[in-house]
Order: sequence, then structure tokens, then C-alpha cells
Amino acid sequence: MYDISAFSIKSQPLILGIESSCDETACAVLRGRKILSNCIISSAAEQAKYGGVVPEIASRMHTEAVDEVCRMALEQAAVRPHDIDCVAATYGAGLLGALLVGLSFAKAFAYALNVPFVAVNHIRGHISAAYLDKPDLKPPFITLLASGGHTAILLTESFTQFKVLADTSDDAAGEAFDKCARVLGQPYPGGPSVQKLAAGGRPVINLPSALVKNSTSTRFSYSGLKTAVINTVHNAAQRGEQLNLADVAASFQRAAIDPLVKKTVEYAQKYGIRTVTAGGGVIANDYLRSSLSALCASNGINLVLPEKKFCTDNAAMIASEGLNQYMAGNFSGLDINACASIPL
Ligand code: KG4
Ligand code: ZN
Repeated sequence: MYDISAFSIKSQPLILGIESSCDETACAVLRGRKILSNCIISSAAEQAKYGGVVPEIASRMHTEAVDEVCRMALEQAAVRPHDIDCVAATYGAGLLGALLVGLSFAKAFAYALNVPFVAVNHIRGHISAAYLDKPDLKPPFITLLASGGHTAILLTESFTQFKVLADTSDDAAGEAFDKCARVLGQPYPGGPSVQKLAAGGRPVINLPSALVKNSTSTRFSYSGLKTAVINTVHNAAQRGEQLNLADVAASFQRAAIDPLVKKTVEYAQKYGIRTVTAGGGVIANDYLRSSLSALCASNGINLVLPEKKFCTDNAAMIASEGLNQYMAGNFSGLDINACASIPL
């Protein structure tokens, strides 16, 4: 019988983390915050043939990869399944069929070993990537979160609590990068393609900022910016003009990222917080990384910027967030189901 009230908490647990919310099947083993292994099998190349993530392909490929990626992670960490103290897996947000593969595998693993299971909110995983970079990091800190599904500035108050200070009223920043890439004829995944194209261009085209103005609260909006890029490309085509696509990409990149960086530092100052962290796939963007580093440095703010491989989807961040919940005794029952969307 699986009884979550019977589990005790160890000080340096061996945590197995599993992530399968989108197109990466990932598994990692952590001893406390120390990463022993971090493995990924990605279906991105297959998805690229279709110009974006096809949910059914993602689910099928997770089914094929989940067992293998977990074997790899255990082998690289040089641990046996019976050494694991806790299993943590993403239960949402994400593609339902994709989530179910990793979640079901993880629940079965925890049940078979009779160890605590922690169902992890993917977004909290992105926030917890910062602890991988700086294991002695302690809240409070401000986090800039920018992924394919979410864009927000958060105040992390404790290891298990955070407050949303600003979010987006429509598209997420990563989604805007992906859509912009499509309009500019660039391959999936859009973020890295736009960044590459932008490197050869200059931000000389005026595009609307992603910041919502004239509002009492700060919100981002990416739909106006996306439409402006579409109109710029279509209008030039209609007039038969040769548009410099690299300039469009650089202009879009600046309009999408500058407000995120500026507002993050403004919030740190407003709340008197000296530490800023960041997470989510868009944080792998070189322009964002250098702008945020420069602005934090000039304002005397400590920046904890996770390595790029911990910004995009990975299982080490899920295990890292699993550790926060494990230490707080927040274990999940095995009846927990996958959730396509979870409010921030
Ligand atoms: O966090 P993530 O891997 O998955 C989600 O949770 O959504 O983020 C994926 C998003 C995609 O929209 C992708 O285009 C974007 O992150 N991204 C980037 C870069 N690398 C990934 N956006 C801008 N620049 C990049 N270098
Ligand atoms: Zn993600």
C-alpha cells in the first residue's frame, strides 16, 4: 500500500526528475542540488519537418524514449533504481498526451520503489533552474520567466511560494519568436532561428514595444508586435520591395526583449530585492542574456543566469523544483492527473 504520510525526509535526497511536457523527453538525477546526470532525447528534428510541434508525434516519441532516457540518466549518475529517494515529474502545463507519458512512468517508478512522488508544475521548474546555477541561492529574488507558453516577472518569496508581478495579456514571448520565424521563412524552433538571423541585421525598423502602456498594472503583449512583423513583411511584398529580413529579425528581437529586461530590473528596485534570476527557453537568447547582465551590473543587482541548457526544457530543473517540494513534505498522491494548463 502506497502511503504518503509514512515517508520521511532525508537531508540530501537522491532525486530522479522526469520532464515530457512538449518535445523533449528528459530525465535527470540530482543528489540535493548536485547534478549527477541530465539526459534529453528530443523530437525537435522530427517536429521541424512539420514547422512546429505536432502533439501526437510528441506523445509517440515520448513513449519510445522515456524508458531509454531514464536508463541513461541512472547509468550516467552511477546509481541503481533502488538508491532513488524521490521521483519528481512534470504534471502540467503542457501537451496532455505528452505529459501523461512521463507522469505515468514516474508514478509507476515511485510506486514500485515505494518512495515519495512529487508532481511538478513546469513553470516552477523553470524558476528552480536558478538553484542549479547557484545551489546556495535563497529567496527572496525576482525571476524573469520567458518560455513558449509563459511570460512573467515573479517574486519568489520562499522555496515554495511566489507572486506574479507582471504577465502577458496574450501571446508568450517564445510563441512570438516562433511566429516571427515562420513569417520570416525561418525553420522551427523559431527562437534560435530568429536570433541567428538577427545577428546579421540592425534594429532599424520601428516596431511596437511588447509593453502595455497606459495601464495601472504592468502587462506585456506580443500580439501587436507579431502583427506588426507580419504587416511589415506583407506590405513590402505587395510593393515589390526587397526587405532586409535580418533587420526585421533584429528589430523584432529588440522590441520583444528590451521591455522584459527593463521591467525586471525596475521590479527588483521597486521591491528592494538585490537578486534577479531568469528561466524559460527565451532566456537562452544571447541578446537577452547580454542586456540583462549589463543592466543588472549597472544597477548593482546580482544576476543568477542559468546555463542555456537549463533554460530550455530539461529534467534537472524538474528535479530541482522536486527537491523544494520534497523538503517541504509536499508529496503527491498517485491519483494526480496531467493538466494541460495550470494558472501561474
Ligand atoms: O521553456 P521552453 O524550452 O519550453 C516551454 O516551456 O515553452 O521554451 C521554448 C521557447 C520556444 O518558443 C523557443 O522558440 C524559445 O523558447 N527559445 C528562444 C531561444 N531558444 C529557445 N527564443 C529566443 N531566443 C533563443 N535563443
Ligand atoms: Zn518550458
